[in-house]
Amino acid sequence: MEPYKVKVVERLPLLDRPGREAALERAGYNLFNLTSDEVTIDLLTDSGTSAMSDRQWGGLMVGDESYAGSRNFAHFERVVRDLTGFSHVIPAHQGRAAEHLLLSQLVHPGQIVPNNMHFDTTRAHVVHAGGRPMDLAIREAYDPTSLHPFKGNVDVARLETLLAAEGARRVPLVMVTITNNTGGGQPVSVANLREVAAVSHRHGVPVYLDMCRWAENAYFVREREAEFADRSIREIGRTVFDLVDGATMSAKKDGLVNIGGFVVTRDVELANRIKEQLILFEGFPTYGGLARRDLEAMAIGLEEATDLDYLRHRIGQVRYLASLLSAAGVPLVEPTGGHGVYLDAHRFLPHVPPEQFPGQSIVVELYREGGVRTVEIGEVFRGEKANDDPTAPELSLVRMAIPRRVYSSSHLAHVARTVIAVWNRRATVRGLLMLEAPERLRHFTARFGPAPPAEAVTAPVAKLATGRP
Ligand code: F0G
Repeated sequence: MEPYKVKVVERLPLLDRPGREAALERAGYNLFNLTSDEVTIDLLTDSGTSAMSDRQWGGLMVGDESYAGSRNFAHFERVVRDLTGFSHVIPAHQGRAAEHLLLSQLVHPGQIVPNNMHFDTTRAHVVHAGGRPMDLAIREAYDPTSLHPFKGNVDVARLETLLAAEGARRVPLVMVTITNNTGGGQPVSVANLREVAAVSHRHGVPVYLDMCRWAENAYFVREREAEFADRSIREIGRTVFDLVDGATMSAKKDGLVNIGGFVVTRDVELANRIKEQLILFEGFPTYGGLARRDLEAMAIGLEEATDLDYLRHRIGQVRYLASLLSAAGVPLVEPTGGHGVYLDAHRFLPHVPPEQFPGQSIVVELYREGGVRTVEIGEVFRGEKANDDPTAPELSLVRMAIPRRVYSSSHLAHVARTVIAVWNRRATVRGLLMLEAPERLRHFTARFGPAPPAEAVTAPVAKLATGRP
């Protein structure tokens, strides 16, 4: 059951089917163009969509809005130092601002930045600094059916080869994203982080974490790495942070706030350079582009996210949704990750070719069926860009991200009924044509229309139409 009770409620929009059809058409079949009043259950993202606790709302009321030296900054800095052990704590308004601050200092044109898998803003900031992002996740990360317990792990052998060939001059830092969002919210083991840190440090290269979902990652470590079975989330966190040189954080995830983030490092000289950038782009180092009350809410949220009862329920909710779908035979990325359930679009709609966007077609049907908003991470999201590793298969996923402390089990049961209803009529689901294809970030702005019916029914469709899985 939920380890919290409801104190404030927000009415859910409940459109009827003709209302949803009209909304889809107006939105050009791109759910980023819907208004929130048109969405019943919003699983677009788990970022900045958490419900704050009564303690966090109380924290807003003790905001000390001093420009310099706010007591809320002092509290925030104390909490982050205590959780992570890093001495230099630099606030920023969200994760990508933290990435900008760090990567614009460390990365120079022509350099390579390895990561298990870059999130898209991280990738964009590496490129913005003139660098080349390189994804080095283990091969299992690209197989939705592999049951590897730590599919977020870095392929250490390939990292070693890269570092041996290029050295610290060409590789300014190694990043590891915990959990690996782009690969399905999959965790990274402490054993893997130890190896990554050892190899990188041997070559004189610092390691930085993208620690957005670090508490969820620690939960998986506790569950799956015997050495940590009796350790607290905080202890596991410290073990992880002690291995590396710093991190960027979007507190919109495991900080349980609607806005906020930070950079942490042990390197005083780097911290000073970042603070200069901070003043230029974000604000004074004791507020970093946030209201001071936001720092207070973040300080409280960061600690709440380490509560084992909270995490057990959080990860449990994601698994609950996955279990309802698995029981009906719906193809998912397995094992389930930390912040959402990812559908495998190629197995869900095998009759829709990649150029007709199977993932986006599912996203549209889930909204049409039950007012559920999800997001495609596949052919639309990737655009023309191929994998960094040309030998890795292209994943086509639909992400159902679960906001923290927001939806109840019965909301998730509605989501499951919706997905299963679409699954049961999958043979009749048609693909989409991209009618407006902007060159950059087409994910957010492209417009689609239904693809015309196939001239002849292909063999897989005929088999699906019998209703057999
Ligand atoms: N790193 C990861 C792994 C993320 O998932 C995100 C955001 C960021 C960095 C950037 O943080 O949004 O605060 O600037 N992920 C959101 C998502 C947008 O929906 O997955 P931000």
